[in-house]
Amino acid sequence: MEIKRASEKDFPALDSLISEVFPSVQFVPTEREVYFIASEMQGAGEVLMGFAHVRLPKDNVERKFILQGLGVKNEYRLRGVGSALLEKALSFCMENGALEVQLSVRTLNPAMSLYHRFGFFPKKQLHEDSIILVRKVQT
Ligand SMILES: CC(C)(COP(=O)(O)OP(=O)(O)OC[C@H]1O[C@@H](n2cnc3c(N)ncnc32)[C@H](O)[C@@H]1OP(=O)(O)O)[C@@H](O)C(=O)NCCC(=O)NCCS
Repeated sequence: MEIKRASEKDFPALDSLISEVFPSVQFVPTEREVYFIASEMQGAGEVLMGFAHVRLPKDNVERKFILQGLGVKNEYRLRGVGSALLEKALSFCMENGALEVQLSVRTLNPAMSLYHRFGFFPKKQLHEDSIILVRKVQT
């Protein structure tokens, strides 16, 4: 498996991956969006398995990075792809001066245990079924 930051040439494949995992989410790359992709070679071609989407902070004071999305195609789940993407996304945030990384997730999402394992803890209940998790970064 290879994990790398997506570049423009990866965007068409990333667009279809995102709409497969999150049918209601639009892929809108801006200067504040950073995507990481997990891929593997199958035959002669590279196949995308999953992605992590980080939104860069609005300002340099709070330095709050948002983990906007994390998704792995159904057939590649539960074999460490999501963890590897999350690790890469968190390292990126740390290397770029994050003070904290935040995300929102449904409380019943099995990904909750993954986020806890990576040091995220509850910050604020959003709605009845969603919660904001935060991961502090040591400076
Ligand atoms: C969440 C997601 C990215 C995890 O990807 P993955 O490649 O399966 O992750 P890993 O194999 O590294 O780890 C699986 C972890 O997720 C949990 N998990 C995720 N889906 C699960 C499921 N259907 N059943 C059981 N456990 C599940 C496991 O408990 C495991 O955590 P643990 O290692 O702490 O026990 C993937 O399931 C996914 O894309 N889900 C749909 C989109 C989504 O809900 N994204 C998160 C909210 S933004």
